[in-house]
Amino acid sequence: MRFVKARDYDDMSRKAANIISAQVIVKPNCVLGLATGSTPIGAYKCLTHWYEKGDLDFSQVSSVNLDEYRGLTHDNPQSYYYFMNDNLFSHVNIDIAKTHVPDGTIEDAEEACRQYDETIKATGGVDLQLLGLGHNGHIGFNEPDSVFAKGTHCVNLAQSTIDANARFFASREEVPTQAYTMGIQTIMQAKKILVVVNGEGKADIVEKAFFGPVTPQVPASILQLHQDVTIVGDEAAFSKIASRI
Ligand code: F6R
Repeated sequence: MRFVKARDYDDMSRKAANIISAQVIVKPNCVLGLATGSTPIGAYKCLTHWYEKGDLDFSQVSSVNLDEYRGLTHDNPQSYYYFMNDNLFSHVNIDIAKTHVPDGTIEDAEEACRQYDETIKATGGVDLQLLGLGHNGHIGFNEPDSVFAKGTHCVNLAQSTIDANARFFASREEVPTQAYTMGIQTIMQAKKILVVVNGEGKADIVEKAFFGPVTPQVPASILQLHQDVTIVGDEAAFSKIASRI
């Protein structure tokens, strides 16, 4: 695991965007695994800026997103489909037909997950997977569990995740309680993984996930077994591991 220290959120965002942009430059037809949440927004802004300057071309890039709330339609501003269009896709020249987010509108969970696994397979595999880190160690919406889930599956969101995400909704009652998420095995199959973390609220889980035992109770801990993981974090998020990196 490679730890890249950033001064603050902006510095973390630029460093993460640099890694993503290097991937796009080196392999223009790459497959990017993308994440939502608040952490990657700054990196998406950098990528947009560099595209506008003419430094980046997304025309051949494909993408697969990690997760989507079950039951939210594409036009719902809280859906991850909407988020990706709003924060990245509508600002760059990516071919929207080559972008993929699990379809939260498919009621039949098994069918939704089966279709998404087919979609990921058809891309030929993820070159670079971007991940945020949940306070309980979740990656995608793989919540703490007794086993590591393999493929795309439907999850009941942990109460702490619902609480953390309530900030994006008008009320806590509106936060969906289920989501479709890429599985841990699929995430681990990405050739490269890039984790972004910021803020002191993530300091404890950063230590547990990357220096604690590998356990499905802390899903991100599995990343310790991946051969090419880069973690870009600000000083606050790395405060508990500073002397070890
Ligand atoms: C988002 C996702 C989640 C978030 C995590 C951290 O697609 O899969 O695992 O990355 O909840 O969220 P933020 O960045 O809002 O702290």
